[in-house]
Amino acid sequence: MIKKGIILAGGKGTRMSPITKAVNKQLLPIYDKPLIFYPLSILMLANIKDILIIVNKGQLNQYKKIIPNGNNLGIKINYLEQDKPRGLPDAFVIGETFIGKENVAMILGDNFFYGQNLTKKLLENTRLKKGARVVLHKVPKPELFGVAKINKQNKIISIKEKPKRYISDLAITGLYFFDNQVIKFAKNLKPSKRGEVEIVDLLNRYKSKKQLTADLIGRGGAWLDTGSIEDFYKTSAFVSAIENRQGFKIACLEEIAFNSKWINKKHIKKAINFYGNCDYSKYLKKLINKS
Ligand code: DAU
Repeated sequence: MIKKGIILAGGKGTRMSPITKAVNKQLLPIYDKPLIFYPLSILMLANIKDILIIVNKGQLNQYKKIIPNGNNLGIKINYLEQDKPRGLPDAFVIGETFIGKENVAMILGDNFFYGQNLTKKLLENTRLKKGARVVLHKVPKPELFGVAKINKQNKIISIKEKPKRYISDLAITGLYFFDNQVIKFAKNLKPSKRGEVEIVDLLNRYKSKKQLTADLIGRGGAWLDTGSIEDFYKTSAFVSAIENRQGFKIACLEEIAFNSKWINKKHIKKAINFYGNCDYSKYLKKLINKS
């Protein structure tokens, strides 16, 4: 069982400037909560309770104001800083001590997942013992993402970062599961032409050892990457539509922790106090009144 997870939540956010000049992208709102709540909720749903959040140098205080240490959620949150965006695999170099001898999941701080059976799929993926696993989702513009070509048995034939020429319409989402070799592989990567170490190079190390597998999210599931202002707007509209129609919140962290019995009513009352008089608190009140 994978018990440790990393959220990579740094990056320059240049595509969203000037909004990201003072505030990190992952703290900006997707409808009614900060973006970081969504990837954090995914790790929590995967039953991962030991979490490292990697943030930009100098931005730690911003994060700690909203997610102090995990005690309020019955989980452990550690923070480390990345001094500059060296690329996604840098997370495993920064997180070496945190990972120790274990396997690890990583989710990018700007990735949003939603759908039926998602929790079941997440839990299945945390059973990974050897190798690496990527999560794929069909997209209309594959050239914007890492892309994987697979055969009929769902085996990966090739992977490429933002290919100019079409190879497949299956994007590699920002959710990955790795065995402990990831530290060694990440340390040995050389920066690409754009000056960053590349996640596809890391995945290719596993592929060349025949240790890379894929999990597919079908059309019943939604995956959105919030790379641009337009994406923020569209993802917010998606969350608003679902939440207002169903009356359930997506990525209410305390609800996930409460339902998993990691926290009790006292913690929820504290959270209500912390958030103050807002819709999110009202939702939490309802949660403890009905149980
Ligand atoms: O979202 C999925 C895509 O994410 C994958 O399909 C691609 O294969 C993968 O390379 C990545 O592409 P992006 O172009 O979206 O990566 P970006 O540089 O925008 O970084 C993604 C997140 O990770 C973002 O929230 C910032 C953070 N980040 C990024 C880098 C390079 C860091 O915290 N540190 C970094 O060094």
